[in-house]
Amino acid sequence: MIKAVRGTRDLLPPDTDLWNRVEAKVRDLFARYNYHEIRTPIFEDTQLFSRSVGEETDIVSKEMFTWEDRARGHSEKAQSLTLRPEATAGVVRAYIEHRLGDKGTLQKLYCVGPQFRRERPQKGRYRQFYQIDAEIIGPPSAGSESPLRDAELLEMLATILDEVGLRDWQLQLNSIGCAEDRVRYDKALRQALQPVVHLMCVDCQRRAETNPLRVLDCKVPEDQPIIEKLPRISQYLDEPCREHFAAVRAMLDAVGIAYTINERMVRGLDYYTRTTFEFTHGGLGAPSAVLGGGRYDGLSESLDGPKAPGIGFAIGEDRLILALQSQGEAATETLQAYIAPLGAGMNFHALKLARELRRHGVGADIGDESFRLKKSFELAEKAGARFIVILGENEVASDEFAVKDLASGQQVQVSRAELAKYLTNN
Ligand code: HAM
Repeated sequence: MIKAVRGTRDLLPPDTDLWNRVEAKVRDLFARYNYHEIRTPIFEDTQLFSRSVGEETDIVSKEMFTWEDRARGHSEKAQSLTLRPEATAGVVRAYIEHRLGDKGTLQKLYCVGPQFRRERPQKGRYRQFYQIDAEIIGPPSAGSESPLRDAELLEMLATILDEVGLRDWQLQLNSIGCAEDRVRYDKALRQALQPVVHLMCVDCQRRAETNPLRVLDCKVPEDQPIIEKLPRISQYLDEPCREHFAAVRAMLDAVGIAYTINERMVRGLDYYTRTTFEFTHGGLGAPSAVLGGGRYDGLSESLDGPKAPGIGFAIGEDRLILALQSQGEAATETLQAYIAPLGAGMNFHALKLARELRRHGVGADIGDESFRLKKSFELAEKAGARFIVILGENEVASDEFAVKDLASGQQVQVSRAELAKYLTNN
């Protein structure tokens, strides 16, 4: 038997009803905040990711699905292609390619779709997973650098999580400064690590060499006291970065959004500058990030584009759904009517009635004339229907139907003309 590939999974009903409800809510909110959808390809030139996410990151160094695409004719070149591991790089590429910055306005863009990373699969971590991604990007003259963008984006996220019904989320906030700040911090970390690194785990010993910032991400309990004493990024921010972060925090305070400053939060992508954040939730056992994001003021230029500061986030939709389900959330779509044709020749009457009802906006499903009444009742219940509408010869003749409320057991006769209204309003 052929099964779904390791790390991939089928999303089935009724889970997909919850996925759709979340996506519909989020699209509605994006419209309220004046975001518009962008759809970029699922695979891109490999270099796009190595130059943006960063050669040294786990994502690029070991998790990408990359292949050599051979040329099919003289007009084509062989090239290295990669299934997108995240959405930001593609959105910024599209921003540059279509000169969206020439409009002089802020681009508020979102996209929803699958991403691919060859990680070790576990609950909440898949090789094909889904992100709801949003980016605000534009020329500095459009206000793209302003701390208002950061605060508004974070406020929107809090509203999204509240409105989809997630409880007890936590916002972890940090500023990792600009590139120059990080050069100084990197130096300070290397210095501080030198005398103690031999006491740490092997991963940290490696990280201390390759990318000392990643030491902060270590979860090994014995290493924690050492990490706690390492220098903090906040001590290395220059004045403009410090002011920027203070302004973001002041605006969050003003709108009443609680956050925790987490100076150990290390995002797994290299393009970030200044504000970075994650929203965590305990729904998967240990608190884990249901979403992450941050500012990337130099990303466009590093991809040969114009100066275009930006900030964005990606919600891990698989994790958001798991977190909602851990709270007992399920989709509540109910079928209004199950039509039970009774006896030979009733199927086409049932189809006609279903057509009428559905055209009046009533959710309806149809059994089959070969089913006995008992079976129709069982199937109506399995379908989660609110009412069963019984349709036999007498009903067709009188144009009046027996409608039974499956929860209360109450049964009434309703005329054809009144039926849609009755099913909708009761
Ligand atoms: P990220 O932190 O790599 O950021 O991913 C964002 C979210 O995607 C994570 O918080 C997590 O919920 C989810 N996620 C990541 N990997 C997996 C996986 N293997 N299985 C299930 N869920 C996963 C980014 O991707 C950035 N592009 C976000 C961003 C947008 N920054 C600025 N703009």
